[in-house]
Amino acid sequence: MEVVICASAEGIGRLGAAAVTELVARRPEAVLGLATGSSPRPVYAEVLRRVRDGQVDLGRVSTFSLDEYVGLPADHPSSYRAEIRRVFTDPAGIPAERVHTPRADEDDVEAAAAAYEEAIRTAGGIDLQLVGLGTEGHIAFNEPGSSLASRTRIKTLTEQTRQDNARFFDGDVSAVPHHCLTVGLATILDTRHVIVIATGESKARAVAELVEGAVSARWPATVLQAHPHVTVLLDEAAASGLELADYYRYAWEHKPGWQGL
Ligand code: GLP
Repeated sequence: MEVVICASAEGIGRLGAAAVTELVARRPEAVLGLATGSSPRPVYAEVLRRVRDGQVDLGRVSTFSLDEYVGLPADHPSSYRAEIRRVFTDPAGIPAERVHTPRADEDDVEAAAAAYEEAIRTAGGIDLQLVGLGTEGHIAFNEPGSSLASRTRIKTLTEQTRQDNARFFDGDVSAVPHHCLTVGLATILDTRHVIVIATGESKARAVAELVEGAVSARWPATVLQAHPHVTVLLDEAAASGLELADYYRYAWEHKPGWQGL
């Protein structure tokens, strides 16, 4: 696991965007795993700037989002399907038919979950997975107690998550659904490179557990300690609970020039 402590959200955006654009330059048909929420926004903003400047073409990329609310129509403005298209894939020029989100609006949610796993496999697996971190340590919507071997399935959101996400529902907690369809922790472990993005002091505990805590379903993100290629992009506030922060800074400063993220 590589931990990079950045001076600003723009710095996080530049590093994350470089990973995306270098991958797509090597592999124009790359499969990207996308996160919604606020954490990946600086990365999306910088990738979109590079698309506008003609530095990269995402026209052949496929995307799979991590999760979706159950109980919202797919075209609801707060659905993750609508959000990812609005904030990233539409402006990036990625054709809608290659933008995938778990179909939580279908009657048979279990069949939709199995179909999502199958679609990821058929696409050849996810090359680069962007991940945000919940304040209680979730990745995607794998809330505390999630099986470390879990696959795409329905989950119940914690009250904390519903409160955190009320800002995407005009501040109305009662409008935030209680359930979601989310990829599992094993689904995320199957991806080839994971980039975790966390900013702000509210994430400091979850970051400390992710990087330095014991692997436990209590802090589901800790499962990433078993993934061979994880990059954690943090601002100073999110890194403030890390015991070995000085070592991570030292390792980054002395990183061999030939080694990418
Ligand atoms: C949300 C989403 C995740 C997201 C995470 C962090 O509830 N299900 O996909 O990455 O929690 O959210 P944010 O980046 O807005 O803090």
